[in-house]
Amino acid sequence: AAATVVEAEPSASEASAAFSGVLDRGWDESQLRQYTFPTRAIPRLSHADPRAEELINNEEPVVLTDTNLVYPALKWDIGYLKENIGNGDFSVYASENHKFLYYDEKKMSNVHNFVPKSRRMEMKFSEFVEKLHETEEKEDEERVYLQQTLNDTVGKKIVVDFLGFNWNWINKQQAKRNWGQLTSNLLLIGMEGNVTPAHYDEQQNFFAQIKGHKRCILFPPDQFENLYPYPCTTRVTDRARWHHIESLLNGGITITVNFWYKGAPTPKRIEYPLKAHQKVAIMRNIEKMLGEALGDPHEVGPLLKMMINGRYD
Ligand code: SIN
Ligand code: FE
Repeated sequence: AAATVVEAEPSASEASAAFSGVLDRGWDESQLRQYTFPTRAIPRLSHADPRAEELINNEEPVVLTDTNLVYPALKWDIGYLKENIGNGDFSVYASENHKFLYYDEKKMSNVHNFVPKSRRMEMKFSEFVEKLHETEEKEDEERVYLQQTLNDTVGKKIVVDFLGFNWNWINKQQAKRNWGQLTSNLLLIGMEGNVTPAHYDEQQNFFAQIKGHKRCILFPPDQFENLYPYPCTTRVTDRARWHHIESLLNGGITITVNFWYKGAPTPKRIEYPLKAHQKVAIMRNIEKMLGEALGDPHEVGPLLKMMINGRYD
């Protein structure tokens, strides 16, 4: 879902900046990649604003400017993390271009012509830092992107920071939305210019931006036909929200912590007509079931073609 972004730092000067005509937001338009489709700004609201609550409830995107969700992590940088994050293994993705495409390694292995452009490696945090510096120095080096669930191998200071997150606020959100359990906190450390291309995630997410700036582009589920490149192979979803995320150009490294939650159970009373995201869920589930029944995802297309051929014209 990844519909809700919480900003680490409240931009206190926004009102006065608008006055002076200078936006003190820490980035400018030239740092955004350019696309052919139009975009509009996601509303930026206080967590206390009733409109924010309504947006979250409707599963629409909103940037919350003042939750203090990850306040103790605002001091996190490469040096502090290197010192304190511990000696565990970290998943680091490497890419020859700037794109870090999400895919399910097991499911994608049986799809023809799918050559992953990015690969996953396991390494210690210090090795990641070395790679980061190597890539920054040399132009043609592979880009890297650390994406690792926070676990019990992290050092004491990180544990203390983690315990200082605004659990009071986020636990209340979880209860209000009737979400299931918190499944993981994913730490993401990206290089400037890194892109996570459009994809959808099954779970609900509070996306806490700690360092640097990321641009999140969310695509409405009714754009399904334009957004469905790999039938039956990517993550199956309940409440589809596509998003594309880019670390701004020339903006230095970015640090994010994601809070992943199981979605709410299907409501007892379903309202019709169904929403676009519910139809997407149906399509994905049917494809998945057909793939399993046929024993081979490659047979799904031909079977569906045979089934509809001439019948519904
Ligand atoms: C996400 O897609 O949920 C996070 C990806 C990113 O921040 O690059
Ligand atoms: Fe995502």
